[in-house]
Amino acid sequence: MTYQTLLTTLENGIFTITINRPDKLNAINNQVMTDINNAVQEVYDNNEIRSAIITGAGPKAFVAGADISEFSGLSVEDGKAVAQKGIDTFFKIENSPKPIVAAVNGFALGGGCELAMCCHFRIASDNAKFGQPEVNLGLIPGYGGTQRLVQLIGKGRAIELLISGNTIDAAQALQYGLVNAVVPPQELLAKAQAILANINTKAPLAIAKCIAAANAVYDETKDGYAIELDGFGDCFGTEDMQEGAKAFLEKRKPVFIGK
Ligand code: COA
Repeated sequence: MTYQTLLTTLENGIFTITINRPDKLNAINNQVMTDINNAVQEVYDNNEIRSAIITGAGPKAFVAGADISEFSGLSVEDGKAVAQKGIDTFFKIENSPKPIVAAVNGFALGGGCELAMCCHFRIASDNAKFGQPEVNLGLIPGYGGTQRLVQLIGKGRAIELLISGNTIDAAQALQYGLVNAVVPPQELLAKAQAILANINTKAPLAIAKCIAAANAVYDETKDGYAIELDGFGDCFGTEDMQEGAKAFLEKRKPVFIGK
């Protein structure tokens, strides 16, 4: 599928989604959000895709936020509809059974920071900057930022960032645990690809169950321990679990088929 505002490639099971509005620092307008939603649906539906990377085009920005030019003149109801579309799309990323990693290649502000945070984890280039500057606009985050920032870096640090509008650099983001690794810009995609190439050798159903159980920690409607228990048990009904145990005993690498 092709997208108006995204570039996509599929190589070795890794689907790379590049938000492609570099002249606007990849700001998320309505079309970008629609395209991200559809590209993530492709991750769910295409059996050749094992995992995905989300990144931004150009050297400067991952995503510099929601597109502010679409905000003037919106009513309260319009504002809620904009937020709902973003929240739904970002939940779809977070709940993807296949790993989706953010490769943060510059500014990740506002909706960009929120997009990075709904991914399963984040790798950053050393020129990355993170923040939720919405208070500078008389706004608050609308795509889950108030929730996921607290989850990822703790309440005190999160509230300071949310109400000051301050940005943090990649080194600080690493110290806060917001990102898993920081590398030079020219190594960013290779680093994300190498991490996913390793993950892609693991059992896909087990990966999906790990993600679902970990996500349940932050969903009070769910019992994460029960989800883990069921997931553990269900693995015994998969061909991949039989293969994994057999390969270990035969001292060879397992070949997983996702069944
Ligand atoms: N929405 C719409 N357009 C945006 C944008 C956004 N969130 N962020 C950047 N752009 C546009 C700028 O308007 C500019 O467009 P123009 O060349 O047509 O004037 C272009 O991207 C380049 O941005 P510019 O501000 O000139 O780059 P800079 O290097 O001087 O500053 C930032 C970079 C990220 C500090 C600055 O663009 C910024 O503060 N952006 C908004 C961040 C924000 O508040 N995000 C949350 C939105 S809810």
